[in-house]
Amino acid sequence: MIKEKLEAWYALHHRQLPWRNEPSAYRVWLSEIILQQTRVEQGRSYYERFVNRFPNVETLAAASQDEVMQLWQGLGYYSRARNLHAAAQQIVAAGRFPETYDEVRRLRGVGDYTAAAICSIAYNQPCAVVDGNVYRVLSRLFAIATPIDTTRGKRTFAKLAQEQLDKKRPGLYNQAIMDFGAMVCTPLSPHCGECPLAAQCMAHAAHEETKYPLKSRRTAVATRFFVYVYVRRNGHVLWHRRAGNDIWRGLYEPYLAEFPHQPSPGELMDLPVVGQATMLRTVALQQKHVLTHRRLYADFYVADVPTDFKAPDGYVWTDETELGNYAVPRLVELLLEKM
Ligand code: ADE
Repeated sequence: MIKEKLEAWYALHHRQLPWRNEPSAYRVWLSEIILQQTRVEQGRSYYERFVNRFPNVETLAAASQDEVMQLWQGLGYYSRARNLHAAAQQIVAAGRFPETYDEVRRLRGVGDYTAAAICSIAYNQPCAVVDGNVYRVLSRLFAIATPIDTTRGKRTFAKLAQEQLDKKRPGLYNQAIMDFGAMVCTPLSPHCGECPLAAQCMAHAAHEETKYPLKSRRTAVATRFFVYVYVRRNGHVLWHRRAGNDIWRGLYEPYLAEFPHQPSPGELMDLPVVGQATMLRTVALQQKHVLTHRRLYADFYVADVPTDFKAPDGYVWTDETELGNYAVPRLVELLLEKM
């Protein structure tokens, strides 16, 4: 049986993860939000930082959004941090942590996967998780060629995952299949030689392990060109909090101009912060920065401007010594380091 073999493997090889010692709903929820789109090795230290600073949902709800964003800095996908904070306030307002799948699923930032992870690991409810590991393990075991990024594929795998789930030990089983996917049934070179399921794996029999899981399309990657100018005047810097429906909402940055192509020297001079500068220094050009659906190229400059230079809309003069109090994207952190 698949579930017995996965659980036997897990008993010997599971990863020691900090939230596994004391899997309260709060801790499991926090760990799963951190691990969305993040590798376990990277998420671990963030989890430690968060539980130390916010040992329960009340302390998290009472924190300022800026503090939460600052603690999150470097993890990326910052909407997770905003949703985490909003959900903490939802939970405190309700007076208790939600206890059923449907209730948990209604929390901000919680989708099908995260709700199933919380309910199975914290409450031992029979909800199968379907994450990238589960797609890979099951698609290989059963040689399922339905693309996972289609409605039909999602339904097929949700149903199969629920059939395979150990209903007596759902939390244990879910964590076993995820660890197994992360450590044995890996994307590019799976360790079939050490796999307890190799004998019944249909993809392995056909020597087609890495053909699975199938996807119907590749996600398009858009390229954007950023020019950051660190604009100085009397010990103050033009500073901006990102808003709107774009990357890095809620994080801070210096003056930014965006272009649909690599900007020419003329286009650069057309920026008032550059055209009126009394000193302009190049810090770095065409720094490449890759996000999931974006490829960014960034140029960094430092400019001194005259005392009467007026801050453009949306920017405020901020004391240079106080920039450390603001959460910034990794790319901006790089600029500040290079200066
Ligand atoms: N990836 C995300 N959550 C996980 C968990 N609880 N166990 C193993 N891998 C995971």
